Amino acid sequence: MTKTITLPRPDDWHLHLRDGAMMEGVLPASRDFARAIIMPNLVPPVVTGADAAAYRDRILAALPEDQGFTPLMTLYLTEATDPADVAAAHADGIATAVKLYPAGATTNSASGVRDIEKVMGVLERMAEIGMPLCMHGEVTNAEVDIFDREAVFIDRVLDPLRRRLPELKIIMEHVTTADGVAYIESAEENLAGSLTVQHLMLNRNQMLVGGIRPHYYCLPILKRSIHQEALRRAATSGDRRFFLGTDSAPHAQHAKENACGCAGVFSAPLAVACYAQVFEEEGALDRLADFASLNGPAYYGLPPNSDTITLIREDAPQPLPETVATGAGPVVVFDPGSPLFWRVAN
Ligand code: DOR
Ligand code: ZN
Repeated sequence: MTKTITLPRPDDWHLHLRDGAMMEGVLPASRDFARAIIMPNLVPPVVTGADAAAYRDRILAALPEDQGFTPLMTLYLTEATDPADVAAAHADGIATAVKLYPAGATTNSASGVRDIEKVMGVLERMAEIGMPLCMHGEVTNAEVDIFDREAVFIDRVLDPLRRRLPELKIIMEHVTTADGVAYIESAEENLAGSLTVQHLMLNRNQMLVGGIRPHYYCLPILKRSIHQEALRRAATSGDRRFFLGTDSAPHAQHAKENACGCAGVFSAPLAVACYAQVFEEEGALDRLADFASLNGPAYYGLPPNSDTITLIREDAPQPLPETVATGAGPVVVFDPGSPLFWRVAN
């Protein structure tokens, strides 16, 4: 039986748009979202307020005319970042948040943070002015197993930082473990987590059993099913500390289907429908609006969107787009791995 639900228009609290021809090609794929937090890991990265203003202008210039969309810019935190520049970009409405990549953790993170002491001045200033910090929460030490890097990050970096600077508002982005969920649930305030489509729909078996599937490779990497279950519980709980962040991260097909394939899942075109599918499976459709439309704005101190989207649950599985064409080559779209019955009404 067809069913419909209407939600305040969602926002994507973690999105990679890239730049140039790739950006032009992938921007329309985010049309279900009203706003998105735009990741700054370009080459070279978006470090200063001036970089962010210029990048925002390029996004707005590439935006299709009929796509209402507000990019919320982030600054890439380096050990040379100037606290005054960050504060000015925030006061001017140019930068919504700062992004911390541990150096070497993921795509284009080489200019990230090696020694947290070197960025304490920036973080203290952000705490004073109420500017949020988006975190890629993984350690990069060679001796730490890739599947343990999030849990170790919480113990070694995140928890000590929060004890030292409890006023700093932090988003642990793309939470992938039960440890991450439990840590966020233990925080009274100033900590929230975003959850991706792929970490809710898949575990590492789907990536590795019967052949290696490069289009499921992302960072933090997919974990075992007990972690997936914890993430699904957190997302569908209605808990205000968890919200939608796709981490949709396009790479050209040849860069993924490669002996050393890039990390990143391009989920934007299907993301809202996929989240709806997860919430239906968990019997929690009545809490989808909290996760997709309300908790994120509340944490960022922004009003929810006043327009709405309608989701339709069809009786038959929906046709899935395989690729999106861009001037930088085709990008393979996330395959949910099981039939998808939801779609967003035009
Ligand atoms: O899988 C990922 N891809 N994880 C990240 O943290 C970065 C992203 C990218 O930029 O491709
Ligand atoms: Zn990301």
